Amino acid sequence: MLENAIKNRKVKIGIIGLGYVGLPLAVEIAKCGFSIIGIDIDSRRVREVNRGMSAIGDVDSQTLRKLVKNGKIKATTDHRKLKFCDIIIICVPTPVDVNKEPNLEPVINSTREIKKTLRKGQLIILKSTTYPETTEKVVQPILDERGLRVGRDYFLAFCPERIDPGNKRFGVLNTPTVIGGVTKKCTRLTTLFYKQFMNKVHPVSSPRAAEMTKLLENTFRNVNIALVNEFAQLCERMGSIDIWEVIEAAKTKPFGYMPFYPGPGVGGHCIPIDPYYLSWKAREYDFHTVFIELSARINEDMPYFIVNKTINALSESGVCPSTARVLLLGMAFKKDISDLRDSPAIKVYHIIKPMVGVVKYNDPHVPAFSTNGKKITSVSLNARELKKYDAVVILNKHTAYDNHLIAKHPRLIVDTRKAITKKSKKVRKLGAP
Ligand SMILES: NC(=O)c1ccc[n+]([C@@H]2O[C@H](COP(=O)([O-])OP(=O)(O)OC[C@H]3O[C@@H](n4cnc5c(N)ncnc54)[C@H](O)[C@@H]3O)[C@@H](O)[C@H]2O)c1
Repeated sequence: MLENAIKNRKVKIGIIGLGYVGLPLAVEIAKCGFSIIGIDIDSRRVREVNRGMSAIGDVDSQTLRKLVKNGKIKATTDHRKLKFCDIIIICVPTPVDVNKEPNLEPVINSTREIKKTLRKGQLIILKSTTYPETTEKVVQPILDERGLRVGRDYFLAFCPERIDPGNKRFGVLNTPTVIGGVTKKCTRLTTLFYKQFMNKVHPVSSPRAAEMTKLLENTFRNVNIALVNEFAQLCERMGSIDIWEVIEAAKTKPFGYMPFYPGPGVGGHCIPIDPYYLSWKAREYDFHTVFIELSARINEDMPYFIVNKTINALSESGVCPSTARVLLLGMAFKKDISDLRDSPAIKVYHIIKPMVGVVKYNDPHVPAFSTNGKKITSVSLNARELKKYDAVVILNKHTAYDNHLIAKHPRLIVDTRKAITKKSKKVRKLGAP
C-alpha cells in the first residue's frame, strides 16, 4: 500500500527539524510534487517558514513562498500532526556536550513524539548524523514500545545527510544518498521513496553501515584538513617553503591524491562534532580512535596559531599588540555562508580580543553576532575603514570580497586562505615564508 502511494506521490511527508538539513530537503521534495508537514520546536522558525521566509542560505524565499502558497509545505510546532504523515524524516541536531560526548536528546525526543502516533504502514527515516547503532539501539526500541513490528508493521532506515551548505554544484538532488534499512523491506521502501526525486541511491546492508559511512566521510575531511594544517605549520617553521605552492604541485598527480587546504580551523555542525560521536562509541568497544583525537587537537589549535602569527607580525612591524587595531574578515565557518556554528573565526575573535587594543570584524553574510550578551556588528569594508587598522586577518575567502581593495589599503595582512595572490611584504600568508 505504502509502495503504491509512494509511486503515485500520494504520501504525506513529515520532516522534523527545519534547519540547514530539513528545510532544503522539504523544498526539494515538495518541488517534486509531495506534500510536506514541517515540524520544529522553534516557533519563530515555523512562523518564518509559513510566511515563506527562508533563514537558510541555500533556500530561496521566493521558491519557499510559492510552495507554501500552493499548500505543498506547512510548518507547525505540533508533533501530533505526525499522525497524518506516511513518511517521517528526522533532521534534528546531534550536538556534543561540554565534554564532547554525544547529546542525542533531540533525536530521542523526536522519536518519542513519533511513537505517540506511530501506526501501521509508516516509514521513519533518521537523517541526523550519529554514531553506529543509534537507529537500531536507540530509535527502534522507543518505536517498538508501541507494539508494532519493524519491517512488517512499520519501517525504519538511516540515510545520512551529505548537504554542503553554499555548494552551488552539489545539492540535495544530485548528491547520491546512502540507505540502510533495519530490514530488507525497510531498505526497499526507502530506496523507492528516494528514487522518486533523485537519480543515485546506494543501499547498504544495515543502518549501522550507513551511520558509519557518514562518520568515515566526515572524519576523512577532519583528518586531511589537520594533516595539511600540520604541513602548513612545518612550512612556517622551515621558513623557505610555501604550502600553497606544494599543494598545487601535489594536485597534478592524477591518482592517489586529493587536495585539502590549510586555514584557521574547522567549523559547522559536522566536521568538528561528528568524529566525537565515533570516538565515544569506539570506547564502548575498548577502542581508541587515535586519528580523530589527533586531528581534533591540530584543528582546534589552529585559531591559537593564527592569533600568535598575528601578534608576532604586529610586533615585527613595530606595532605594540596591546594597543593595536585589528580587523577580522569573514566570521562564518566557511566561505559564502552565514553559519557561525563552531566557527574558528569566532574563536580567533575571542582569543585575540584581550591581547589587542581594538578588534572589529566584517562579514557580508553576518551583519551581527552576539557574544556574552553583547551584540557585535560588522563594520563596512572600504578604503577608509581598511586604513584604520594595524592588521587585517583574512579568515574566509568570501566571493563577495574585493581582494584587490583588501590587498591595497591595510598596513599588514595575515592571510589564512591565500586570498591575496599578489606578492607583498605586508602579507603574511599561513604556511608560507
Ligand atoms: N548543517 C549541515 O551542513 C549538515 C550536513 C550533514 C548532516 N548534518 C546533520 O543533520 C542534522 C541536523 O543539522 P542542521 O544543521 O540541520 O541543524 P539545525 O540546528 O540547523 O536545525 C535543526 C532544527 O531542528 C529543530 N529541533 C530540535 N529539536 C527538535 C525536536 N525535538 N522536534 C522538532 N524540531 C526540533 C531545531 O529547532 C532546528 O530548527 C545534524 O545531525 C547534523 O549533524 C548537518
